[in-house]
Amino acid sequence: MNKAKIAPSLLAADFGNLQRDVEMVNQSQADWHHIDIMDGVFVPNISYGMPVVKTISEHATKPLDVHLMIVDPDRYINTFAELGATYLTVHYEACTHLHRTVQAIKNAGMKAGVALNPHTNVNLLKNIISDLDLVLIMSVNPGFGGQSFIENSYEKIRDAKELIKMNESKALVEVDGGVTAKNAKALIKAGADVLVAGSFIFKSEDPSTTIKELKIATDKWSIFEL
Ligand code: DX5
Ligand code: ZN
Repeated sequence: MNKAKIAPSLLAADFGNLQRDVEMVNQSQADWHHIDIMDGVFVPNISYGMPVVKTISEHATKPLDVHLMIVDPDRYINTFAELGATYLTVHYEACTHLHRTVQAIKNAGMKAGVALNPHTNVNLLKNIISDLDLVLIMSVNPGFGGQSFIENSYEKIRDAKELIKMNESKALVEVDGGVTAKNAKALIKAGADVLVAGSFIFKSEDPSTTIKELKIATDKWSIFEL
């Protein structure tokens, strides 16, 4: 079995019951905890900051996949390393010296990811792809949960996979925004290795079962397709 990873986005969790929701992810078939940091500058919204990440990290038993939607992310690299981030992803559009930023993330002991806004061409990563552990394709404009999936993301996932292959990079392809059980299989077929889902999981009646449904939908070798 070669299943894709599922990373529930805690942005859609119930913050009044954050520990409960983090523990639900721990107990579920999910693979990572996806943590969205928004600064109200790079994106129009502000999500949550360090005390909340600390709380998540104290209860989480799976890798922390931190997605920074902030300007000048270099300021916080060491802080996120101390908070226990496994993956630290910065936006291509927010980094003037992306190579330096990626090296700093790796030197701090984390895996480095780069996220691309919907309008940003995947091939702009050509000269950094061998250094990356993760390419995050934004399939909505970053800033809010619950938005509709942008259809040209499939092509970007295919482009990212191709670029990774051509350069013998080990980077995973992650898709974030508007992911549901309906588009999950097509995303995996296009080349996605990790699916982030917020509203679809946490706004469902039974989030743990929804995670299971996503996991089944993303089974790369599903017998239903043979
Ligand atoms: C959006 C965030 C996403 C968000 C996804 O800017 O990066 O991680 O939580 O939410 P859904 O799955 O509801 O589109
Ligand atoms: Zn995200």
